[in-house]
Amino acid sequence: MSRKKIVAGNWKMNTTPSEGLELFNELGRSIASTEAEVIIAAPFLHLPQLVAGNNQRITVAAQNCSQYNSGAYTGEVSVEMLSDIGVNTVIIGHSERRTYFGESHAILKDKVDTVIGKGMRVIFCCGEPLEVRKAENHISYVEKQLKESLFHLSAVQMERVIVAYEPIWAIGTGETASPEQAQDMHHAIRDMIGAQYDKKTADTMSILYGGSVKPTNAAEIFSQADVDGGLVGGASLKVDGFTQIIAAR
Ligand code: PGA
Repeated sequence: MSRKKIVAGNWKMNTTPSEGLELFNELGRSIASTEAEVIIAAPFLHLPQLVAGNNQRITVAAQNCSQYNSGAYTGEVSVEMLSDIGVNTVIIGHSERRTYFGESHAILKDKVDTVIGKGMRVIFCCGEPLEVRKAENHISYVEKQLKESLFHLSAVQMERVIVAYEPIWAIGTGETASPEQAQDMHHAIRDMIGAQYDKKTADTMSILYGGSVKPTNAAEIFSQADVDGGLVGGASLKVDGFTQIIAAR
């Protein structure tokens, strides 16, 4: 069954709004026609102008949102605000949010519900730290992340979910999971979705790999049967490299 191919760039807290706009416009000119959907997840402050840039080739996404709909939550950004400016895709559960901002399974479940409740799409990140990988508990670790924050959704709601497997030991470290390690985990995740839901939900779920994806390793990782694209951090900040990664999909 065919699944959507996706290459998503996660700029994290990099670029000023003016630098971001330049990067976005340059990227729009650089990417040739591709069967993959290209997504850029930019800082909140950048989003209105990127959406207004109206680049048909690139979907603009947020890197986070509040679990609350509105109210006295100083410093937070709601899904309503994102939706109002035309942003309909949100990354939830990135390991940096989990680690540095204390986002628990329960908080992430609420965020997933808030985004899905608004009719928007979630890119749900999961992935294990190094000690868990070394102890060979990575599959049950990821299964718990999915069960605690995602698998309460209905099969119909799951159609608006993209899963990103990002082993923490490979994020920003230059160390990448081997194509076999990525494939094994992606296959396991697809099996978990099949067991929780049904074969169609599993077969149609796009599962992205993230963690030091570069122009030099993208093609090999993306060629794995259960890898449907990538979530790319550092390498998405360079137009040439990111264009090559998109072409590898
Ligand atoms: P990286 O980040 O490509 O810089 O390793 C990936 C991510 O955190 O999404």
